[in-house]
Amino acid sequence: MKYPKKNGLVFLVQIVNETIPALLKLKEAGKVRFIGITGLPLEIFSYVLDRVPPGTIDVILSYCHYSINDSTLEDLLPYLKSKGVGVISASPLAMGLLTENGPPEWHPASPELKAACQDAAAYCKEKGKNISKLAMQYSLLNKDISTVLVGMNSVKQVDENVAAAVELATVGMDEKTLSQIEGILKPVKNQTWPSGIQQSR
Ligand SMILES: *[C@@H]1O[C@H](CO)[C@@H](O)[C@H](O)[C@H]1NC(C)=O
Ligand SMILES: *[C@@H]1O[C@H](CO)[C@@H](O)[C@H](O)[C@H]1NC(C)=O
Ligand SMILES: *[C@@H]1O[C@H](CO)[C@@H](O)[C@H](O)[C@H]1NC(C)=O
Ligand SMILES: *[C@@H]1O[C@H](CO)[C@@H](O)[C@H](O)[C@H]1NC(C)=O
Repeated sequence: MKYPKKNGLVFLVQIVNETIPALLKLKEAGKVRFIGITGLPLEIFSYVLDRVPPGTIDVILSYCHYSINDSTLEDLLPYLKSKGVGVISASPLAMGLLTENGPPEWHPASPELKAACQDAAAYCKEKGKNISKLAMQYSLLNKDISTVLVGMNSVKQVDENVAAAVELATVGMDEKTLSQIEGILKPVKNQTWPSGIQQSR
């Protein structure tokens, strides 16, 4: 089957017409238990879910759309719930944007967005607060997001993150600092960048 391609990448129609049916066959054969899809633009999820039989997709993994600087995943939650699809929200620190040290060199955010996040981090540091901890707690707070996925590269980080989650459950959110950070990030709130190819419906 020939599908339109751009820069070697496939259009979503191929995911619907070929990839998902192939995965369903593997599921029927008992080789996979669950099927999930992922990608940065939120539109891809309803595109695929609206075109496959109910129950086909068990879970979606969204990233960088539920953090202090971008909470647009929120709008999709009722739809996902109605479809019975599980939600994994990854990158609560927005791929390093919401950290004291800032994001890696390759981070695709605009200079404006990076600068705003740096301002927010500097504000937190000055007040003796930790922007990463707050960002993590913000992402953990939404009960409709069953899983928050965060990368950790040391036992120390695991301990710190567990402590942050426990603090959230016991002491609660530092609303005052959070609202200050939200104020700083307001001009860039919900900004994102293009990823993959532009799909035509
Ligand atoms: C994908 O499948 C649909 C439904 O079977 C069909 O109408 C459509 O032509 C297919 N698209 C492509 C690009 O093959
Ligand atoms: C950001 O997105 C969320 C979810 O769509 C929305 O509730 C909120 O008002 C948006 N904020 C801004 C400043 O655009
Ligand atoms: C801030 O919190 C994060 C997440 O809990 C942790 O990994 C990091 O080490 C903390 N940074 C500082 C400077 O305490
Ligand atoms: C926040 O950061 C994430 C990941 O870097 C990005 O996807 C998102 O667009 C950013 N949004 C805002 C409003 O800063």
